[in-house]
Amino acid sequence: MTSDALVFFGATGDLAYKQIFPALQALVHDGKLDVPVVGVAKSGWTLEDLRERARRSLEEHGGVDEDAFRRLCERLRYVDGDYGDPGTFDRLRGELGAARRPLHYLAIPPSLFGTVVEQLGRSGCAAKGARVVVEKPFGRDLASAQELNRTLRSVFPEQAIFRIDHYLGKEAVENLIYFRFANSFLEPVWNRQHVKRVQITMAEAFGVAGRGRFYEEAGAIRDVIQNHMLQVLALLTMDAPVERSAEALRDEKARLLKSIAPLRPADVVRGQFRGYRDEPGVASDSEVETFAAVRLHVDSWRWAGVPFLIRAGKRLPTTATEVLVELHHPPQTVFDTPDDSAPNSFRFLLGPAVQLALRARAKLPGERMVGEEVELLAQHEHPGEMPPYERLLGDAMRGDPTLFAREDGVEAAWRVVEPVLGDAVPVHGYEPGSWGPSEADRLIDGGGAWHAPRGVDSTDPA
Ligand code: BG6
Repeated sequence: MTSDALVFFGATGDLAYKQIFPALQALVHDGKLDVPVVGVAKSGWTLEDLRERARRSLEEHGGVDEDAFRRLCERLRYVDGDYGDPGTFDRLRGELGAARRPLHYLAIPPSLFGTVVEQLGRSGCAAKGARVVVEKPFGRDLASAQELNRTLRSVFPEQAIFRIDHYLGKEAVENLIYFRFANSFLEPVWNRQHVKRVQITMAEAFGVAGRGRFYEEAGAIRDVIQNHMLQVLALLTMDAPVERSAEALRDEKARLLKSIAPLRPADVVRGQFRGYRDEPGVASDSEVETFAAVRLHVDSWRWAGVPFLIRAGKRLPTTATEVLVELHHPPQTVFDTPDDSAPNSFRFLLGPAVQLALRARAKLPGERMVGEEVELLAQHEHPGEMPPYERLLGDAMRGDPTLFAREDGVEAAWRVVEPVLGDAVPVHGYEPGSWGPSEADRLIDGGGAWHAPRGVDSTDPA
């Protein structure tokens, strides 16, 4: 059943400003949100202040659609108060009026989840049918993730908990499993017999963009490898779900994540861009990584022995997230010289543009039997695609968990990175604008090099 109200905690914060207001306006525009929308925060604000803030947020992020904005403002309510004060939640219950199945979006630091969840339970705001949405990071290691899950589960059943990993809300990421299982040509080669190596690069040309304090607590492994990158890897490598249901899909994804071997220090290289320590909120002797490269192994019949290389970093030469699946060379080199022939590969550019490509060799015109690399390329974007937050909030309101991370998958992903968190491996400096520390090259075995995606060049976003 669809939620009959939407409550967002942290209404005056950064996440609401950058993501939630634009998503709310879009949902209203599409006719998918006609219930009370209640912002909660402790800022000493009024409803008018919140409406003002919403307008500013939209001016900066996507633009104001006057008609949808007016309708959003009509639905908007505001409760100001301390999350530890039962009075705040009694007022929230009052604002909810006749609504019995609200969706509560906790856009607040995880350290406050326990307090808010407990108060939601006590005040009757989390009765049967209520839902809760939380954002990554889901904990900062396995133990804290389990603790967080226990906290949420003390009031909400698992099927009422929606964990947002916004990568799962991207069309290009969802397409990975669609493309794999809607076509027959891929499956016969999608295994250790044919795949030599898989690379995933998540490159960002900008730095920590004013989030130094947050980043000091996270680092690249916690920020994007444990979640976005492992989710992409899971979708790329999981088996087909046994049926078309959210749980069947999440079962296969969790099974895959459980089969990834925990990382060993020898399979990890951490880097930090020069200048990071001068960022506001960053310690002058920080050892936090702004770049991480890892070599993973999936212990399954399908993937045993295939290296999965993932690297993610800030202040790299470009902004792009790309997957490259390299196949083995042909058994004999009949025409070209061995050095010429790059193996066939599939390339999935997941952002900022979306591309699907098959790289192959074709003969160069002329008398000689020599070839060149060509790409069969589909530029695969459609105007009007829903941005991830709009998609995910709409899905959560309807109670569809397909694109959300499930407890067992999240914990399995923490088990993978747990051995290399903190200073388990040294951090190497790298120049801004480079591809990270050269030490990362040693993770590549079997020849070849890291694949550099083509993206957009940029500096810090505003
Ligand atoms: C966030 C990380 O989850 O994802 C950021 O905290 C990162 O550090 C961002 O920049 C990247 O998202 P996208 O959608 O721009 O690739």
